[in-house]
Amino acid sequence: MLSIRSLGVAYQRNGQRTTVLDDISLDIDAGEFVSILGPSGCGKTTLLRCLAGLTMPTTGEILHNGARQAPGAGTAMVFQDYMNSLFPWKTVQDNVAFALHDRRLSRRERNEIALRQLATVGLAEHADRHPWELSGGMQQRVAIARALAREAGALLMDEPFASLDAQTRYTLEDLLLDVWRRYAQTVLFVTHDIDESIYLSDRIVVLGDNPGVIRGIVTVDLSRPRHQLNTRADSRFTDLRATIHDLLAVSGQT
Ligand SMILES: Nc1ncnc2c1ncn2[C@@H]1O[C@H](COP(=O)(O)OP(=O)(O)OP(=O)(O)O)[C@@H](O)[C@H]1O
Ligand SMILES: [Mg+2]
Repeated sequence: MLSIRSLGVAYQRNGQRTTVLDDISLDIDAGEFVSILGPSGCGKTTLLRCLAGLTMPTTGEILHNGARQAPGAGTAMVFQDYMNSLFPWKTVQDNVAFALHDRRLSRRERNEIALRQLATVGLAEHADRHPWELSGGMQQRVAIARALAREAGALLMDEPFASLDAQTRYTLEDLLLDVWRRYAQTVLFVTHDIDESIYLSDRIVVLGDNPGVIRGIVTVDLSRPRHQLNTRADSRFTDLRATIHDLLAVSGQT
């Protein structure tokens, strides 16, 4: 569905050219859950930004179902920094409805979709509140609802749960898996957390740095639905953790 072909990104700074991503090729199936792991600065955010149409690749191309599309078409992004990704002066519902501001829909239709997606993430009764009245986990749920409202097909998530406490993170991981299954979404999920990537994914792409290249791709052959306790206690889970740890260690992160 999503095809990344020989993608490269280089920045020019003070006359020096730095290659951030080099020759990244990856095919992602419709409905697949793929995580991207890699050391800080290896280009994970840059890769998502290319897919979202926010950064132009220097080389290579991105195809949707075999065809070129307008940059970012068919994607919706959830950013790590939820504090700055929602409008503080808008209500929760208006924040979600804003995702549809460029669509030919009436205000009423936009509000209906927003409310429906807020219900999906369990926040319907908070529709009239403002982001700053909500906990971090709730704000990140709003961001997920906003991405879902775009009905984009591919959800791009940049360390969405990184700054949440462990309990909230587990709850949101399960919420995300539930949404992914119900909406048959394709998800590209950036994380620093090996266990989180195994718990969620069908496949894990491990990147190395300087420049960012694919070190390896690991298939997660754990059954679904997953369970926070049982899945993590599976001996296969431990094996996968070791495999990924070794791949990351090769690229400098231990
Ligand atoms: N607009 C830009 N101009 C110049 N260099 C940039 C720009 N954006 C990112 N970079 C550089 O590209 C590299 C990769 O950045 P990126 O944010 O993609 O890494 P990351 O893997 O997401 O890191 P982290 O895990 O810390 O979020 C970094 O060295 C960064 O300094
Ligand atoms: Mg990043």
